[in-house]
Amino acid sequence: MTTSIVRDSPFIRACLGQPVPHTPVWFMRQAGRSLPEYRAAREGTAMLDACRRPELVCELTLQPVRRHGVDAAILFSDIVVPVAAAGVDLEIVPGVGPVVAAPVRDRAGVAALPDLDPADVGFVAEAVGLLVGRLGGTPLIGFAGAPFTLASYLVEGGPSRNHERTKALMYGAPPVWHVLCGKLAEITLAFLRVQVGAGVAAVQLFDSWAGALSEADYREFVLPHSAAVLGGLAGSGVPRIHFGVGTGHLLGAMGEAGAEVVGVDWRTPLSEAATRVGDRAVQGNLDPAVLFAPWPAVEAQVRRVLVEGRAAKGHVFNLGHGVLPETDPDVLTKVVALVHEVPPG
Ligand code: CP3
Repeated sequence: MTTSIVRDSPFIRACLGQPVPHTPVWFMRQAGRSLPEYRAAREGTAMLDACRRPELVCELTLQPVRRHGVDAAILFSDIVVPVAAAGVDLEIVPGVGPVVAAPVRDRAGVAALPDLDPADVGFVAEAVGLLVGRLGGTPLIGFAGAPFTLASYLVEGGPSRNHERTKALMYGAPPVWHVLCGKLAEITLAFLRVQVGAGVAAVQLFDSWAGALSEADYREFVLPHSAAVLGGLAGSGVPRIHFGVGTGHLLGAMGEAGAEVVGVDWRTPLSEAATRVGDRAVQGNLDPAVLFAPWPAVEAQVRRVLVEGRAAKGHVFNLGHGVLPETDPDVLTKVVALVHEVPPG
């Protein structure tokens, strides 16, 4: 029963390019510091510990659904959860991001990377199971980090502006790079299979930092590994969303990697993105900083995104990247109401 409601939801229909009663909307990082109830529930619990507690994961995942009435929930977790669960020593430092104790920079480091046993992320399967029961007809999105973005954290040892050590390995030792990304693709695919097996309705592969590469390098060094992940889920029956930031020049390639939906940041109009991704849906692409402008400006930008999204096979409204922590959550609620009231194209 619930599964057929989910399959017929505006979110899943838009992913598949089917007609919708209204444009579906959710926000990357909809669970997070913009919500006072999130800050209260997270108080005193480290990020990775929170991800390992199914009841807390449930509560944090449901908060934005209750508050904003979004069309999809996204599992509360993080892209580094599977590598940490496999045994890589790392932590998520507040205000910084993932920090890895022993960065992976050579053949020996790559060889020492552990595999992911699905049992290592049993807590994720448990949380997904609880959520599927509690969400009713609202689809749950599972997610993982793509090999390039994960590799950047592992090689740099933390967040990086220029990805210089990552690129040094990629250009300097291509065989080692490919072994690293091959291993990360296996971890990612295993992690997503756990989520699909537990009942998520769609998956999003976050290649947040892929935009740092030229198209030629993306195709040579990254696409085969992301394609292995997405292709590994081809028969799973859930729509696959492939997202990155600053990827206007990569949108065609990211679609080819094997996705029903390509995520677009605010730098590329959706009408332009639609031609680049071909016969696929798009997701995006309001600039998260626009939410700090007065409401009439926000409204105008939301309406523009909706009009431009009509050019695509399907459109899932979202931001072009995650909700910024200082965002007024009431503005997000108003955006959801506005997206729902504008007739779809
Ligand atoms: O609501 C959702 O979107 C689901 C939860 C989610 C989180 N991380 C929770 C989180 C998702 C989808 C992610 C993905 C993620 N994590 C990405 C890809 C998406 C993107 O933003 O490009 C990346 C690059 C990471 C790595 C990471 N984890 C960063 C950069 C940070 C922020 C560090 C900070 O404190 O500013 C994290 C921590 C993190 N992941 C938080 C949340 C809610 C903040 C933790 C906190 O509240 O202290």
